[in-house]
Amino acid sequence: MRLGIGVLLAMLSLAAGAEGVSSPDGSIQFQLSFAQSEDPSGRYPVYTVTLDDEEIIAESRLGLTTDDSDNFSRGLSRIDVARRSNDATWEQPWGERRFVRDHYNEAVYSLRFAEFEMAVHVRVFDDGLAFRYEIPEQDGLAIRTIDELTQFVINRAGTAFWQTGDGHEGYEHLYQATAIDEVTTAHTPMTLRLDNGAHLSLHEAALVDYPAYRLIAAGDGQFDVDLRPWSDGTKAKVSLPFESPWRTIQLARSATGLLDSSLILNLNEPNALGDVSWVEPGKYAGIWWEIHRGLGTWSSGPRHAATTAAAKAKIDFAAEYGIDGVLVEGWNVGWDGDYVGEPTQDLTKAAPDFDLAAVARYAREKGLRLVGHHETGGHVTHYEEQMDEALDLLERHAVRQVKTGYVGRTGSLKRVDEEGQTHLEHKDGQFAVRHHLTNIRKAAQRRISVNTHEPVKDTGLRRTYPNWLSREGSRGQEFNVWGNPGNPPEHEVMLAYTRLLAGPMDFTPGVFDLDFEIDNKPRRVQTTLAKQLALYVTIYSPIQMVPDMRENYERYRDAFQFIVDVPTDWEQSIALAGEVGDFVAFARKERGGDDWYIGAITDEQARSLSLPLGFLDGDRSYRATVYGDGPDAHWESSPYEYVIRQSTVGKEDTLELALAPGGGAAIRIEPEE
Ligand code: NOJ
Ligand code: CA
Repeated sequence: MRLGIGVLLAMLSLAAGAEGVSSPDGSIQFQLSFAQSEDPSGRYPVYTVTLDDEEIIAESRLGLTTDDSDNFSRGLSRIDVARRSNDATWEQPWGERRFVRDHYNEAVYSLRFAEFEMAVHVRVFDDGLAFRYEIPEQDGLAIRTIDELTQFVINRAGTAFWQTGDGHEGYEHLYQATAIDEVTTAHTPMTLRLDNGAHLSLHEAALVDYPAYRLIAAGDGQFDVDLRPWSDGTKAKVSLPFESPWRTIQLARSATGLLDSSLILNLNEPNALGDVSWVEPGKYAGIWWEIHRGLGTWSSGPRHAATTAAAKAKIDFAAEYGIDGVLVEGWNVGWDGDYVGEPTQDLTKAAPDFDLAAVARYAREKGLRLVGHHETGGHVTHYEEQMDEALDLLERHAVRQVKTGYVGRTGSLKRVDEEGQTHLEHKDGQFAVRHHLTNIRKAAQRRISVNTHEPVKDTGLRRTYPNWLSREGSRGQEFNVWGNPGNPPEHEVMLAYTRLLAGPMDFTPGVFDLDFEIDNKPRRVQTTLAKQLALYVTIYSPIQMVPDMRENYERYRDAFQFIVDVPTDWEQSIALAGEVGDFVAFARKERGGDDWYIGAITDEQARSLSLPLGFLDGDRSYRATVYGDGPDAHWESSPYEYVIRQSTVGKEDTLELALAPGGGAAIRIEPEE
């Protein structure tokens, strides 16, 4: 068997017993061993994890079944181990931090079963660990399907922060905080705070050509990996050699420790696209929010929102405020009638009242770019049939970014096979995983970046494909238009410790008109206005929308200045303070400049935060502009009450912030001359 790793430092053979690998700082320990079994033919591999010598993961099963056989699930007779360490720093073309340290100890365990061999690769970092399965090619072994036996057993009391893995809304359920034993099924990342103060988050990295998993609680703290099946019930369709995604456990002693982790990115392969200077982070406005607000339609007719004139007006607004792109939804033919799940979207043909060439040209003249939109209606085959032509069209018009969409319930993506039969597939099954990478690669060939809505979850593939800029994958701002009530005040705080651990989210912060009516029914965005500003810093995404309408921004022009100023690409990011689901504060330094930005948000509780500014350069003094909640601000009764104050600050100072219920603060810190 060939092990696919570099330097082998040691190779030893174990008759039995445990074999461990620890983090570079020694605090995290992973142990692999045989499960106790009288009968050797019944032996299978198990692992445990400790942090500071305290148990985090109790004995938990590892293993696979292939083509329904027990080749890799029992009959374990021998474990060999090869070790290696890595300490390297790599640079992100864009990101929440420019330099990422990839520092770990690795063990590759070769597991000899009755007939065949497989390997478990384990990497232990100071901020968590991960493992993946590998089945090399070997005589007499052919494999078509795989299912996984991976478990995470958590034998400690604590709180879980999770969203259900059931239901039809995919990743768009609210997060809940419950006792760990109340979790039923959960999507990942699922975050846990244990009774000893340890924080962990279960997720995965480098999900390629394999289904995503959700967790199923099996009782007594046991969580089983449940791969999302194909419509025919198969879990994963594979061939040899096979390598699974990484199963990740981020680990920290505090809530903010989770937020500073780059573990998911480190486990992905380096940039596969070469020169990616064409990938452009930035802000974008759009003909979008007004449609969701009911002020226009995607469909054709007198209320069609995406007209040439409306797009040009939006471009004027964007140009005036230095916004880099303009998204126009409803630009194409195919939105009439019920398009969800139907092959109606023609992504190669503009609507008759939308002059694509003229609008794209106008945007370029004004120094920005049109952002494309590919709503697929969830009919994936129909999209794949026109994907090349649709992307060619965007490329011809100098479009560098496309938002894709897969509306419809999970389990309703349409796949038409060679015989013309239609199948309904999951949005996080292997079919969807394959489709998204096809989309990303085809877009990259045309120097186009992608922002996927209703996506498969993020597993850090932006490292390998830096044109996968952002995605949705949780309840975004749009829920505040649809639902009554919409997202509760704790929602964006919850996101910081769950969804956002996976990667960037196109949440679309920055709504300034917080209470309005749709069809005579009241709608509320359950935040203060200052919190909307803070979200540009607390929610990391290299592209951030400026979604509201000109008049709403100009009504609060002084507050809007923060959105005009805030960048979307960072040299450095630091989690300053927080508790899961309660509050969070980040400081981020702009890339290519000396300014720092801070965002602090709270849930429904008012809070006072003291944030030491020790990250500032000691030789300088700075001017801080705080956009904060006013003394009587409250998301429900007085959301528009904000105050803007300036002061001189330095490295020795502490910033005192008072956050209103459902509130927040956004701060710009610029060096003084
Ligand atoms: C759902 C997306 O999340 C939303 O942003 C978009 O406007 C609609 N689908 C229509 O494509
Ligand atoms: Ca959506």
